[in-house]
Amino acid sequence: MECLLQKTKITMLSNCLILLMVGQAFSIPKTEEVTWYPTYHLAPHKGWINDPNGLIYHNGYYHAFFQHNPENIPEGTKHWGHARSHDMLNWEYLPIALSPSLEDDIDGIFSGSAVNLNGKLTLIYTGVSDNLNKQRQMVAISSDGVNFEKKGVVITKEGDESYFRDPKAWFQNGSWWVVIGSQTTDKLGEVLLYSSKDFFNWTYQGVLAGGNGSLGYMWECPDFFTINGKQILVISPQGLEQDGFNYQNLYQTGYFVGNWQPEQNYTIEKGFREIDHGHDFYASQSFLAPDGRRIQISWLDMWESVFAENVTGWSGMFTIPREISLNEFGDLVSKPIREIIGKRTPNTDIFDTIISSNQMLTLKNNVFSSEILIEFNLLNSSCKAIQLSLKEEPTRDEGVVLYVDIELSRLFMERYYPKYGIDKTNRSVAIDLSLSKLSLDIFVDSSSIEVFVNDGIAVMSSRIYPNNNQRKFSVAPVDGFVNVSLTSYDINVNNQ
Ligand SMILES: *[C@@H]1O[C@H](CO)[C@@H](O)[C@H](O)[C@H]1NC(C)=O
Ligand SMILES: *[C@@H]1O[C@H](CO)[C@@H](O)[C@H](O)[C@H]1NC(C)=O
Ligand SMILES: *[C@@H]1O[C@H](CO)[C@@H](O)[C@H](O)[C@H]1NC(C)=O
Ligand SMILES: *[C@@H]1O[C@H](CO)[C@@H](O)[C@H](O)[C@H]1NC(C)=O
Ligand SMILES: *[C@@H]1O[C@H](CO)[C@@H](O)[C@H](O)[C@H]1NC(C)=O
Ligand SMILES: *[C@@H]1O[C@H](CO)[C@@H](O)[C@H](O)[C@H]1NC(C)=O
Ligand SMILES: *[C@@H]1O[C@H](CO)[C@@H](O)[C@H](O)[C@H]1NC(C)=O
Repeated sequence: MECLLQKTKITMLSNCLILLMVGQAFSIPKTEEVTWYPTYHLAPHKGWINDPNGLIYHNGYYHAFFQHNPENIPEGTKHWGHARSHDMLNWEYLPIALSPSLEDDIDGIFSGSAVNLNGKLTLIYTGVSDNLNKQRQMVAISSDGVNFEKKGVVITKEGDESYFRDPKAWFQNGSWWVVIGSQTTDKLGEVLLYSSKDFFNWTYQGVLAGGNGSLGYMWECPDFFTINGKQILVISPQGLEQDGFNYQNLYQTGYFVGNWQPEQNYTIEKGFREIDHGHDFYASQSFLAPDGRRIQISWLDMWESVFAENVTGWSGMFTIPREISLNEFGDLVSKPIREIIGKRTPNTDIFDTIISSNQMLTLKNNVFSSEILIEFNLLNSSCKAIQLSLKEEPTRDEGVVLYVDIELSRLFMERYYPKYGIDKTNRSVAIDLSLSKLSLDIFVDSSSIEVFVNDGIAVMSSRIYPNNNQRKFSVAPVDGFVNVSLTSYDINVNNQ
């Protein structure tokens, strides 16, 4: 959950210098020209957020806590901000739940999770002290779901305590369990497992999983849960090198599929794969909704990227909550929570229409808070590629482009906002074109885009920074015609 922890003071200094230079070299957005605060995503009205923490449904509310610096400084001291909701889309912001106050959490309240302990909303989090070098797991309990009473340290690690964080707890087979992100003495990422009968007295159970050199120096934000009888381990490893189209972001978030039960080792069946292929996705956490759905929320940002919204007083946001499942091949499938269906109204419907070569379909001029569900019938198309853009004019450079490369069987997302220091870069994911249809369910909010491919088999999520006049959505085939059906919707939620 902390990038800067991994770096020396010199790197921190150079980050500060870079930020300073950004401030000098690039435009500051005029507030009348930009609308970036999201309407249906969780984001702080003021200050900085990063990881989702303590996600839980408790006493009639969905609770989301978040890594938070009230002064809007990314490397500033972390608190737990708090919001609750009945639908995970409209959020009610509550007072900060946890602030540094004890000797063991005086330098920050790092990530963690929530459980229902004897009816009470109970948090387990990493308290940091000694200039971030001591990381210890601590507990806080609430009777009213708003105010928390700290209970102090419950788990410590022998030896080096500087890489030991982000406890994710659950109840199973009559015991409490917790996984914690850590690092071996030879500097490889690993996840440690502990158990307890009472949530306070914890016993070390060993290493649940560890890197073998190919998966970075630290595994942050572990999450461990069961879907379809398989145990999924989600981690956010740091220190992976880019490998072709994989691992293109500074840090990653991905998953293993395997088998585990108490008293047994975790046996991995399918190795590490990234969950999302956009520019901005990190520190996923999941929880169970009361109806049994496994819901996952992630930070829709990346460490050390340009947070252009910063100057308007807030920085960072969460993804749309996603219902996750495993398909028959053991691949994670992510879908936007169905609550969003109740919030949308259709405004355009196009069915089975050919866009000819050299033609363009302009769908909307003002895409702010929208879903565009688009399906290409590839059996009835001749083009080599399809280009979808959100720009002032499709011919302009600045903006975001989705590019379906039919020959390469890949979907690319390229964004470019030079005004704010965001260079032209793309991310991509392999797509299965043997299905004859390609469906893209595209969710745009004021400063984000999330693209769900073929019902969630792949997702790409990125922050975008369009001005108010850079919100025209167009579709055009490249070298041939394309057959398209689409519905676009306005999403009516107003967190603004
Ligand atoms: C946001 O602005 C504050 C105050 O100007 C600054 O200290 C901080 O580093 C900025 N954060 C980012 C991510 O640019
Ligand atoms: C844990 O519970 C599951 C399901 O109730 C059961 O199948 C399994 O045998 C239990 N494992 C242990 C070690 O008790
Ligand atoms: C803590 O748990 C362990 C293992 O269950 C047990 O042996 C020990 O007595 C417990 N200690 C306290 C103080 O409850
Ligand atoms: C778990 O793995 C360790 C180390 O490989 C091994 O020594 C131990 O026997 C295994 N335990 C079980 C229950 O398979
Ligand atoms: C190391 O882990 C990676 C990713 O899980 C895997 O692909 C590779 O085969 C492993 N290598 C060894 C030597 O175990
Ligand atoms: C191809 O598209 C045209 C025009 O919409 C339509 O009339 C025709 O039925 C489609 N053919 C197939 C095979 O889908
Ligand atoms: C994606 O980026 C790479 C590397 O910058 C570039 O070579 C490639 O042309 C880009 N592809 C698309 C489809 O934009």
